Amino acid sequence: VEIGIIGGTGDLGTALAVHLARQYKVVIGSRAKSKAESAISQILTEKGERDYLKKNLEAAENRDAVSRCDFLIATVPQSTALESMKNLASSFRGDKVLVSAVASVSKSGDEFHSDFSEYSITQQIQHLLPDSINLATAFQTVPANILYKEKPISADVLVACDNKQSYAKVAEVVSSISGLRPLYAGSLKQSGPIEGLTAMLLNIAINNRLKSPTIKLNSF
Ligand SMILES: NC(=O)c1ccc[n+]([C@@H]2O[C@H](COP(=O)([O-])OP(=O)(O)OC[C@H]3O[C@@H](n4cnc5c(N)ncnc54)[C@H](OP(=O)(O)O)[C@@H]3O)[C@@H](O)[C@H]2O)c1
Repeated sequence: VEIGIIGGTGDLGTALAVHLARQYKVVIGSRAKSKAESAISQILTEKGERDYLKKNLEAAENRDAVSRCDFLIATVPQSTALESMKNLASSFRGDKVLVSAVASVSKSGDEFHSDFSEYSITQQIQHLLPDSINLATAFQTVPANILYKEKPISADVLVACDNKQSYAKVAEVVSSISGLRPLYAGSLKQSGPIEGLTAMLLNIAINNRLKSPTIKLNSF
């Protein structure tokens, strides 16, 4: 499996790439291939020239990453997510899986909140792409900085998607990152609440002086 990361040069994209490259070929996508190449150079400088990073990280334009990879993760800013996906729509074919890590975060006054609209960001992306593409929501509550620094983490990754086959593929990728546990939250109708958790975590961080809070569910 090759994993393509759309907007993979940013904080979350590079953090995921560092971990996923242990097991997968990872194509770091960018609007400009040269920017993805620089991101890989920076990863190699900061992480040391580890063999699997040298072997498994590749740079591409977002469009080529989408054409090439059957498993994609979108780590683009919320403000431009729909426009980016619209621009890439013609490259999406077949039964590719696209995981949106995009969170819904706005700020009014001192407080963060998520935007409540009828459709989640993931559902809005789904409407832009061919019906054959399997959309999923995941990673919104994972702090990129902790992941990038490879600090020990124990976190649950809530996943929403419309079918169990896609969930199984997403779960396998999530589980490959040490310390992350995928949990199936249900259909894409659950994606709105998941996208909204980031805003809540930001408030919880500020209000309780927590540095990088994440979510870990207990069951008794
Ligand atoms: N950071 C976190 O801890 C975290 C955690 C969970 C979820 N998320 C979500 O993941 C997403 C990415 O977060 P991030 O912190 O990694 O973001 P980021 O670093 O600000 O941006 C990610 C990448 O998006 C691309 N980009 C920027 N503007 C764009 C535009 N106008 N059109 C297309 N691409 C554009 C850039 O890549 P190029 O310039 O190379 O194209 C950039 O490197 C966000 O939606 C965020 O809500 C973040």
